[in-house]
Amino acid sequence: MKITVNRPSLPPYSEFEELAKEIWDSSYLTNFGTVHNKLLHNLEFMFRTENIALCNNGTNALIGAVKIAALPKKKKVITTPFTFAATAHSILWADKQPVFVDIGKGGFCISPETVEPAIDSDTSAILPVHCYGLPCDIAGFSELSRKTGIPIIYDAAHAFGVEVNGKSLVSEGSASIVSTHATKAFNTVEGGIAYFSDEKQLRQFTAMTNFGINGGVTDQLGFNGKLSELHAAVGLLGLKYFSQRVVERSKVWHYYDEFFADIDTVETTVIPHGVSLNYAYYPVKIVDRNIDLDEVVRKLAAKDIITRKYFSELLTEMPFFKDSLTVGTLDNATALSNRILCLPIHESYVPHQDFIATEVLAALK
Ligand SMILES: Cc1ncc(COP(=O)(O)O)c(C=O)c1O
Repeated sequence: MKITVNRPSLPPYSEFEELAKEIWDSSYLTNFGTVHNKLLHNLEFMFRTENIALCNNGTNALIGAVKIAALPKKKKVITTPFTFAATAHSILWADKQPVFVDIGKGGFCISPETVEPAIDSDTSAILPVHCYGLPCDIAGFSELSRKTGIPIIYDAAHAFGVEVNGKSLVSEGSASIVSTHATKAFNTVEGGIAYFSDEKQLRQFTAMTNFGINGGVTDQLGFNGKLSELHAAVGLLGLKYFSQRVVERSKVWHYYDEFFADIDTVETTVIPHGVSLNYAYYPVKIVDRNIDLDEVVRKLAAKDIITRKYFSELLTEMPFFKDSLTVGTLDNATALSNRILCLPIHESYVPHQDFIATEVLAALK
């Protein structure tokens, strides 16, 4: 069996077959149907907020969030280079301009300290990413937003189910989006969730995902961002298994933590106090600069263990973004991007955790 870095967490096929048959028989396949509405309701309950909407992917949810929650007439959106391209693509699709700043020292996210010097009279929003589901400094960003009047829009693509002191990370900032893509902690095959603190903005978003139709009247710009009944069905059924799967993935996380505790070349990730993680990624830093990470990835792949260097290429190094605005140095992000490795983690890997960790250690030698 190939051990991929992560894999879709699916409900039993028989359960999907049964619900798919109901959807088939109803002939109602999309457009805010029963299954979509049930999933939305269950997620509202789970996140303890009614200010969410579903979308057909995380990228479209983020485009909508920037379009709606960023300050109009201002152009710049301050964000991180240590992320997936969709973060900055969304800023451009929303007719804004990304401005890249460094991540904080020792962390994976941009911080109020790295963002503040980049704020000017044209700043429209700040867009931090809860990288690997590990929360940014939400208290610090909330204070920065209060002080400057600039909205915070979180890319919480990785953060489904993450809580900080018992509160869902999704309901932070002016807006926040989650990806429910097949590779995420919880999935609807393709999909996304958008949160808006302002109910009016939430209604605007829902209409935006439905061609701009508001109560039968097309009164705003829109696109097709609806989540189909079949996609929603995968989510609705998968949700029942989510918490048990988090428990299983946490076993793998803690096993790795213990295994690598005394290995000098590997720096594991500390979960901050009060954070309940979804354990969807297991990022480590390979601190010994003499170790060639590409070679490690190759050696492990030869053993059918697939690791990923997320995000070894900063957005600012990609040809498409290389001429973008950057404020300050990107020293922390650059150093991290050269040393980061994500190890396989999944609820089904508990029986394989020792094999994976042992092979990783061997590949580092
Ligand atoms: C940080 C980040 N933002 C946005 C996205 C886009 O989400 P989606 O694939 O659902 O469009 C991803 C996807 O992996 C991501 O990693």
